[in-house]
Formats: sequence, C-alpha cells, structure tokens
Amino acid sequence: MLSISPTDRMFILCGAGVSAESGIPTFRGVGGLWRNYRIEDVASPDAWRRDPRLVWEFYSMRRKVASAAKPNPAHFALAKLERILGDRLFLCTQNVDNLHEQAGSKRVIHMHGELFKSRCDTCHRPPFDDANLYEPPTEIPRCPCGGQIRPHICWFGEVPFALNQIYAALDDCAIFMAVGTSGVVEPAASFVAYVHGQARTLYVGPEHPANVSSFTECHLGNAGEVLPRLLGL
Ligand code: OAD
Repeated sequence: MLSISPTDRMFILCGAGVSAESGIPTFRGVGGLWRNYRIEDVASPDAWRRDPRLVWEFYSMRRKVASAAKPNPAHFALAKLERILGDRLFLCTQNVDNLHEQAGSKRVIHMHGELFKSRCDTCHRPPFDDANLYEPPTEIPRCPCGGQIRPHICWFGEVPFALNQIYAALDDCAIFMAVGTSGVVEPAASFVAYVHGQARTLYVGPEHPANVSSFTECHLGNAGEVLPRLLGL
C-alpha cells in the first residue's frame, strides 16, 4: 500500500485507461479511437475549418458513448482519496468524460477539455454546459455573435488548459502517479520527467507506457483493481 505522509502533496495524471473499464474506448489500443478515425480529420483546428460537421459527428458519437458510462472502482478510489487528502491532491485528467465528477471528485483539472461543454470559435463567451448531439443533417450551432459553436476540447495543435496551475502543482508534489496513459502525448508525457529527483513516481496500468524509464515504480494491472488496493481504499 502506498504510504502518504500528512504533509505530502500528490499529483495524479489520468489517461484514457482510467475510463476503459467503464466502457469508454482508449485512443491507441486495440479498438482505440485513433485506429478508426484520423486525428487530422476530427481533432484539429484544420479539421474544424474544413469540415465542422464531421468534427461534430465524432464528438456527438463520443457524447453518446460517455453519457451511457458509469464510474468504475478507479474513479471511486480517487474520489475517496480527495476526501482524505483535500487540496493536497491535484487530480489532472486528460480525459474529457465526467466520470471523476460522477464518482464524487470535486476538483478535477481537465487539461484536454470537457466533452459536455461547448464554446464559440470566435468570441470570448465562456465555455458552457452542452450535452446536445449535433449530427448531420443538423446545422452547426451558432453563437449570437455569428461564430460557430465548437466542442470545448483541446485539439492537436492547441495549448492544453490550466498549464500554469498544473506546473505549480508539479513543482509542489512529493508523489507523482500516472494512471492509464500511454505516455506519448505531450506535454503530459513529460510531467514525470519534470518531477524527476523531487517526487516518488509511480505508473499504474496493464502495460508499460512509452515513458516507462522515467518512473521509479510500475504497478501492472487494470486501474479498477490496482488503484483501490494500492491506495488502501
Ligand atoms: P491512450 O489510448 O494513448 O493510452 C491508454 C492507456 O491506457 C494505454 O497505455 C493502456 O495500456 C492503458 N489501459 C488500458 N486499459 C486500462 C485499464 N483498465 N486500466 C489502466 N490502464 C489501462 O490514451 P491516453 O494516454 O490517455 O487527447 O491519450 C492521451 C491523449 O491522446 C488523449 O487525451 C487524447 C489522445 O489523442 C486529445 O484528444 C487531445
């Protein structure tokens, strides 16, 4: 079991593997989304300029899948950990679903955005809750300013959200744990190297991530089984 002292700050980085046991496909594994869709067609600013309907078709499909999903024991263990550690836990997820919140987590940083939020591609109106499905033949929704409403997602070529907060939390952490992420997408893949020499670093997932050499410990297995055991929750 992981021992966390009363002053330790912990940074947890989650990836698609955390939601895999809830039935949400990962990106790069067998059956992964990027085996069936091309990133440049559905998840880039160019794709949005070229064919916003195709982009909405992809995110509407993902909204449907995610709205049927329920949190699994990994999400519940992390919510319990937040109740114990309070603001000494910094939970940073690359996932855009809301399963951490459904499990009871209150402070989740969604560095790649949120599936059930949209925003205007033109004006600075803040992102807003939106669970609608915009599938063809539906028109692309419009903002009162005339801009087009897009998913509140960080696409390839865009800057992830909350990076200042994230690096401040990395600077302060004594324990860094990555769960269910393949370690190939930057900047998240380099967080573990960033805390090298400062924090104990653990990985949880069924296989070694690409950046395995930067971790001091690897706990192989599914997040829903390993996390509750490792955290003693
Ligand atoms: P990947 O699909 O690249 O990796 C998923 C990881 O989860 C793999 O390392 C699997 O071994 C692991 N995994 C599978 N089942 C698991 C389970 N039950 N428990 C724990 N781990 C499991 O997904 P990410 O690393 O999250 O970004 O991908 C990072 C980013 O790339 C995503 O946020 C997304 C994607 O393109 C954007 O769309 C901006």
